[in-house]
Amino acid sequence: MNKHKLQRVILLGPQGSGKSTQSIIIGRYLKIREISSGQILRQYLRGNSDLSRELKAYITPGLLVPDDLVIRLIVHRLKNKLYKNGFMLDGFPRNIHQAKVLDKNFKIDMVFNLQISNQEALKRLSGRLVCKHGHIWHVKHKKPKKKNICDKCGLPLYVRADDTGVAIRKRLSIYRKKTEKLLKYYKVQNKLVVFDGEKSIKKVSQDILKYLKQNA
Ligand code: AP5
Ligand code: MG
Repeated sequence: MNKHKLQRVILLGPQGSGKSTQSIIIGRYLKIREISSGQILRQYLRGNSDLSRELKAYITPGLLVPDDLVIRLIVHRLKNKLYKNGFMLDGFPRNIHQAKVLDKNFKIDMVFNLQISNQEALKRLSGRLVCKHGHIWHVKHKKPKKKNICDKCGLPLYVRADDTGVAIRKRLSIYRKKTEKLLKYYKVQNKLVVFDGEKSIKKVSQDILKYLKQNA
């Protein structure tokens, strides 16, 4: 039994705001599983199937994957018993349509937003390194012990295919136009909590944990 009252949580924030970095901390504290739509989609990119080619054509240049496809892959998965105690959603929803579909299927308890500027996002994403399992590092802010090797699983680190200057700008522009509308959507439902994502990784985690200790 989960003793926390927050069981279904969404993490919003621009690209590079630290959603996937902080979702682990939140998930661990609330004893709920994190689920990253981006990481799930990237797993389908491997191989040479029609689905992988279709997804690549959206993800690599920084475009959103069409709603029907993402909804099918994510909402269906959330119904799995793995998520019976709740979930910490990172990267979904990204627009009002996705949020409405989610609301029809689940009662969302809380939405956290990590606020950062485009300038900071660009700086962070230009130094990000990831492994195949989605563990995240940074050449300055979160260095792996061995150069280009993941501390957690020993696999090689690489730069994500959508972390190029052009694709980062595209992703940020879509975020500001479409995803940011969700802030108002959840604010009027009294579910939105905003954090200053420009602080260090440790300080952002501390702010979130402080909030959770008082409210979860
Ligand atoms: P996704 O994988 O979700 O990527 P994103 O939205 O672009 O967000 P990021 O993962 O880039 O940023 P993050 O906030 O997780 O930052 P991180 O913690 O890594 O989606 C990828 C693609 O999939 C989308 O573009 C789209 O094509 C598709 N997609 C996914 N969901 C979809 C949906 N619902 N609908 C349609 N399409 C969808 O941190 C970034 C870096 O900064 C790291 O190196 C980290 O170490 C560092 N860092 C983190 N916090 C700090 C800090 N406080 N100070 C300094 N450095 C920090
Ligand atoms: Mg992420």
